[in-house]
Amino acid sequence: MFTTMLFFHLTGLSIWLGSLLSLAIITSVLKKQAGSKDIQNLLRKIPGLFSRWLHPSSFIVLISGVFMIISMNISESQKPLWLHFMEKGGLLIILLSIIVLSIVSSKKIKKPLKAANVDVAVVQRGLSTYLVWLTIFIILILSIIFMVSFKF
Ligand code: HEM
Repeated sequence: MFTTMLFFHLTGLSIWLGSLLSLAIITSVLKKQAGSKDIQNLLRKIPGLFSRWLHPSSFIVLISGVFMIISMNISESQKPLWLHFMEKGGLLIILLSIIVLSIVSSKKIKKPLKAANVDVAVVQRGLSTYLVWLTIFIILILSIIFMVSFKF
């Protein structure tokens, strides 16, 4: 059971981090061409398409992690620092990424793109904000992977 959960944990993590990275690359490339109507149509769909993978995969990381913690059956004081860091830090990052990315994509990208006369500067600012948050979450996830790899 533990091994199966570890498989789900690592698969979820790969899809989550991979989707965040792809989304960051696509957003930064499309930002420069945000004036084109075709690109605006694409930008309306992209965050929604990715969130089908992003949020469920991060949720799988959380659920499998909780299952593994329960099956390990150890007290709080017996847990090493890296496990505390992954459990609490990971939980916070997963919940924050779901909330923040959903809010930023709907308020800063979808909303300005819905306007009758799309203001390209506003859309580009929104895309920059989205890109900053994507980068923050990528760095936070990598910092957890760093702690877990070195088992501090
Ligand atoms: C950003 C979120 C997370 C990342 C990047 C992450 C990363 C990892 C990695 C790379 C491993 C493999 C470690 C190894 O086999 O040596 C692992 C295992 C594990 N993770 Fe996470 N994790 C995250 C969130 C969580 C959460 C939220 C929990 C618990 C609620 C959790 C609980 C566990 C447990 C119990 C293991 C097995 C540890 C062991 O083999 O002794 N993880 N995680």
